[in-house]
Amino acid sequence: MKDKQKQQKLPGPKTISIHHGKSFSEETGCVMPPIFATSTFVHGNKGEFDYTRSGNPNFQILERILKRIEDAKFCTAFNSGISAVTAIASSLKSGDKILCESNLYGCTVRLFEEVFKKFGINIFYIDFTSKGYKEAILKINPNLIWIESPTNPLLKILNISEICKIANDNKIDVVVDNTFSTALIQKPLELGATISMMSTTKFINGHSDALGGAVLTNNKEWNQKMIFAQKSLGLNPSPFDSWLITRGLKTLPLRIKEQTQNAENIVEELSSNSLILKLIYPYNTSHPQYDLAKAQMKMGGSIITMQLDLNKEKTFRFCKNLKYFSLAESLGGIESLICHPATMTHASIDKTTKTKLGIDDSLVRLSIGCEDYDDLITDILIALKDI
Ligand SMILES: Cc1ncc(COP(=O)(O)O)c(C=O)c1O
Repeated sequence: MKDKQKQQKLPGPKTISIHHGKSFSEETGCVMPPIFATSTFVHGNKGEFDYTRSGNPNFQILERILKRIEDAKFCTAFNSGISAVTAIASSLKSGDKILCESNLYGCTVRLFEEVFKKFGINIFYIDFTSKGYKEAILKINPNLIWIESPTNPLLKILNISEICKIANDNKIDVVVDNTFSTALIQKPLELGATISMMSTTKFINGHSDALGGAVLTNNKEWNQKMIFAQKSLGLNPSPFDSWLITRGLKTLPLRIKEQTQNAENIVEELSSNSLILKLIYPYNTSHPQYDLAKAQMKMGGSIITMQLDLNKEKTFRFCKNLKYFSLAESLGGIESLICHPATMTHASIDKTTKTKLGIDDSLVRLSIGCEDYDDLITDILIALKDI
């Protein structure tokens, strides 16, 4: 009985994602929220809304669900993942330092290098899985550490709690880009991060029909900075996109489970394929940080990266042979996608850096969807055979 009462007080992620927006049924009887397509609000309203750039019921609903799923005190929604990155980085001042993981999403790197550097922000990169990374943090002494885990596209697993411990001991804030995992797989704030940010375009929405981003934190000052950035930089999402993302979010737990199961089955089937030189998946025993992935992540997720034993031309032929995996940017939707990071998501990174990181022309990233497993694996096997 006691356990049951406890469960009622603490609903699970499926219940939260379905029920924990705001209900408008008292006034109208509607089960789902309407789209508040309004730029402005009459002053003195109960919700204290004044202008959609600084707040709208549709993004407030989304923010509430996201912070409940992540157990965070605060959440601010943005119009894309890159807007969320912009909001955080623009809170720094000239002379400040960001220490980044060497393998970050290409457009985050481009934003730091080509925009924020111009405003005097210093950007450093290290491999956070290397032996000397702790000394490097202390030597550089940055204002902010910026990491992803798993990283895009190499799926390196970083020890988030170990990194946060060193950072917290030295009063350094840590941002974890949790786009690939979402709170259903790992909760960076619980592991000690100052900020958990994500592109809600991907798994959170899950239907590849809207762009969005979110920043979650338990830190009051950072929350104030995010609210300021949302309205002052015009980074707010649209009511319609927020409505779409809120709707997609309702099935996040179901989608993640199904996609992960498909991914695990695909990894198992492909692990002995002679055309695949490296099959990278966090829950694959061959992954260099397998033990850490098992300890840090609740599931292995649904992104698989493969290094093929093929040249560039044949790698593209394989991508184009696929029937159910469209060759497209993005990930995390119900539909399977394949991406060629070197010429797509990481095209803006110079070739020498890419080669050093291991993002070469034979590397492909698969985002596994909710289709039937048999159809997906048959598709991959036929596409490999027909190159
Ligand atoms: C890890 C990661 N962070 C941030 C972003 C940027 O998100 P958006 O495309 O919504 O701006 C992406 C996009 O692919 C990503 O993969």
